[in-house]
Amino acid sequence: MTKTRSLSFSYEEFENIGELKDSDRQLILTARESAEMAYAPYSKFRVGAAVKLESGLIIRGANVENAAFPSGICAERSALANSISNYPKDKPVTIAIASMTTEGITDDFPSPCGNCRQVIAEEESRTGSKIRIILSGKNKTVIIDSVSDLLPLQFNKNNLKVNLP
Ligand code: THU
Repeated sequence: MTKTRSLSFSYEEFENIGELKDSDRQLILTARESAEMAYAPYSKFRVGAAVKLESGLIIRGANVENAAFPSGICAERSALANSISNYPKDKPVTIAIASMTTEGITDDFPSPCGNCRQVIAEEESRTGSKIRIILSGKNKTVIIDSVSDLLPLQFNKNNLKVNLP
């Protein structure tokens, strides 16, 4: 019999980063600083990510583009590749993402691409912990509890039917 299912999720929205708790606001400011470090000569769209680990350590990442376009990497994956390879036991608890153009911080918040959602999902699965996602623009900031909200029905290790460590 055919069943129709529906999915929805709730998230918090803020007009001003002044409304956020200090640690989240600080993480956004770090993501903005990271965006300044991006190498994005082709799109001129600079993205910064700041990953807060359980220990309190903050790891940054920025998008790094390439003349061979697909060789570029997004800020989120750049930050997570850094945290996972250097601090594999220190679980990410929050990732903040911010973007800028030649005009400065974007009005709208950036939203992670599909590849980055998949990589954040793998990290949630590897650590067994949700990662809060803060997407921040000049006029709007949102906080999402888990990447599962942004990537429902996701592909993960269970689909492979193999026992991974
Ligand atoms: N980009 C990111 O780094 N993160 C996102 O969440 C969206 C897109 C980068 C990829 C590319 O270097 C530039 O932004 C334009 O797509």
